[in-house]
Amino acid sequence: MPSDLSPIDKAKFVAAKQASLYVEDGMKVGLGTGSTAAWLVKCLGERVQDDGLKIKGVPTSSRTAALAREVGIEVMSLDEARWLDITIDGADEYDGNLNLIKGGGGALLQEKIVATASDQMVVIADASKSVETLGGFPLPLEVVPFGWQTTKTLIEETLIGMDVLGRKVSLRMNGEAPFYTDEGNHILDLHLNRIGNARQLSLVVNQIPGVVENGLFIDICDIVVIGHGDGRVEMR
Ligand code: 5RP
Repeated sequence: MPSDLSPIDKAKFVAAKQASLYVEDGMKVGLGTGSTAAWLVKCLGERVQDDGLKIKGVPTSSRTAALAREVGIEVMSLDEARWLDITIDGADEYDGNLNLIKGGGGALLQEKIVATASDQMVVIADASKSVETLGGFPLPLEVVPFGWQTTKTLIEETLIGMDVLGRKVSLRMNGEAPFYTDEGNHILDLHLNRIGNARQLSLVVNQIPGVVENGLFIDICDIVVIGHGDGRVEMR
């Protein structure tokens, strides 16, 4: 383990290290995005370099692709891979049913496509991401830039009929400019505080023209590997 890690980084690292053991020779592996997933990529890179582990990685963002190449993991596109053995990724929230909010790093679209194309999705997270009910973390929606303000109004109107506590919608920014995803889209963050029916919300918002995908991962995750600041790891 790298020395001088803060408790939160230690938690992320031990979760990533433990989850990396799910990966075996010959596997096609979906590589998540974010600070926890970056530890995973480094752990796998070490196994590739030191133990000769032979895997092919399908990254979920340009950031992860660059890191994977840097640590010596062979990268392929999802179209080349078609189907994956496993995806390991971080999350912004997970609940008791292993449903998730993802997209804090703006990569939710590729993350959802890659996770859905995998036999197994393993989430790695520190214990602070555990919630009883999803929604404390703002729910990201990827929307096309064309007419995004109209899309935002449609989302706000749709939220009036939904079982949520907050209804503020904000455009994600990158400094003074709107944030762009790898797909060239914007992100609208929905400040809902509590999502009463995540499955229904996910289906409804995806019906709105201009919405490409949302950050709710329902029935996609199989296992959560939870890291603690004292180095303990538990599975759910
Ligand atoms: C990126 C994601 C990340 O997995 C999520 O935001 C968690 O990130 P981190 O591990 O840095 O806390 O969904 O789109």
